[in-house]
Amino acid sequence: MGLQAVAFVEASDGLADASVQPGRSGTLGGVTPVLPNARRGRLRTSTATVYALCERRELLLGVGPEATREGEAVRAIVYTHYGPADVLQLKDVGKPTPGNDEVLVRLDAVSLNRSDWEGLTGEPFYARIGGLRRPRHQVLGSDIAGRVEAVGKDVQRFQPGDDVFGDILWHMGGFAEYVCAREKYLAKKPAGLTFEQVAAIPQAGAIALQGIRDKGQVRKGQQVLINGAGGGGGMFAVQLAKLYGAEVTGVDRGDKLNFMRSLGADHVIDYTREDFASTGKHYDLILDLVARRSVFDCQRALKPRGAYYAVGGPGATLLQIALVGPVVGLLTGKKLRVLVVKPSVTDLLHLANLCEAGTIVPVIDWRFPLNETPAALRYVGEGHVKGKVVVTVGHVDT
Ligand SMILES: NC(=O)c1ccc[n+]([C@@H]2O[C@H](COP(=O)([O-])OP(=O)(O)OC[C@H]3O[C@@H](n4cnc5c(N)ncnc54)[C@H](OP(=O)(O)O)[C@@H]3O)[C@@H](O)[C@H]2O)c1
Repeated sequence: MGLQAVAFVEASDGLADASVQPGRSGTLGGVTPVLPNARRGRLRTSTATVYALCERRELLLGVGPEATREGEAVRAIVYTHYGPADVLQLKDVGKPTPGNDEVLVRLDAVSLNRSDWEGLTGEPFYARIGGLRRPRHQVLGSDIAGRVEAVGKDVQRFQPGDDVFGDILWHMGGFAEYVCAREKYLAKKPAGLTFEQVAAIPQAGAIALQGIRDKGQVRKGQQVLINGAGGGGGMFAVQLAKLYGAEVTGVDRGDKLNFMRSLGADHVIDYTREDFASTGKHYDLILDLVARRSVFDCQRALKPRGAYYAVGGPGATLLQIALVGPVVGLLTGKKLRVLVVKPSVTDLLHLANLCEAGTIVPVIDWRFPLNETPAALRYVGEGHVKGKVVVTVGHVDT
């Protein structure tokens, strides 16, 4: 007899939703099974039975709370515990069904973000919000692009056949053939951009736009430093800061200096050789994608009334900036904060329009097919990526 597992099964409208609590050693690993056509109620069975049902395709391993249509399975990259890219597996999962305010998207492309790597490894600590010991979402991937296949009853802006893109960071599920996404996170794809291009925009573009335009309020002639300028957020931030007329310094690894120049950076610093906070230069705005320096070092690199915004980095540094930054700011007349990016469809459309017009460019460093998502994440985790990496599901016929 295998380990005991408890399945809670609830059926509605011919769809069934079940969850299983694994036995103490947790061999089901937190994946949520979905049992088609089950009766309302609680099903008690052994883990061995669950596996047997899965093998006979009477039970589908579903992901998240979504119900599935009987018998329909789609491919997804699943993980059930934090770790290196090897913990990811290509699996058949239940095809999700959209909730009232959701659309079902047949995915074509999904771009990777540092936040996917952080969600995979569970580091820094903020990557474990909602899932201290096990991941809250068993499928990563937040910057999605694809075609709407079905819509929930309250959806107003989309209909089947629409091409959409957006950031579903709070729900995830993009490394799959299908995902359900709330309408409010999605925008229509401009005809002049490919699915890969729009998939590269959402999270990195929002970081850059909200950091440079909204918080930074960058104006002509200002001195702006972008730390981590060769990655996803930095790639857009350099271009936007130039667009608003700033003189831009980009900081990143030595092999990205030419890349940062190609984006428009006026000055570049190799962080492995030089410390931007000790050069004696001062900036109106520092947008920090990696936050490796103390709040005290960063304030010294600011001009009077200058602003420093940290976007990502080690948890302890971000905590220090959030707690000590406002106090240091009060004493120095500068602003030192953590930037919390807010999802905005208006921002998505603005960025996409800039890309469609050729004003800014979403640079794609490398593409991987869905089944090579672990390699794609490893590539992101190891560094050296210039701009964005995209997983091409290639599912939409254009
Ligand atoms: N605050 C929010 O609301 C919010 C929302 C979404 C995402 N985020 C966070 O934003 C962060 C950045 O995102 P991203 O997508 O732009 O990351 P990314 O694509 O990985 O870019 C980071 C860049 O920084 C470089 N780098 C690494 N260490 C550095 C150092 N010590 N000094 C200077 N540069 C360094 C990296 O190069 P190498 O790795 O090659 O060295 C890479 O080019 C992530 O931590 C993510 O979790 C925050």
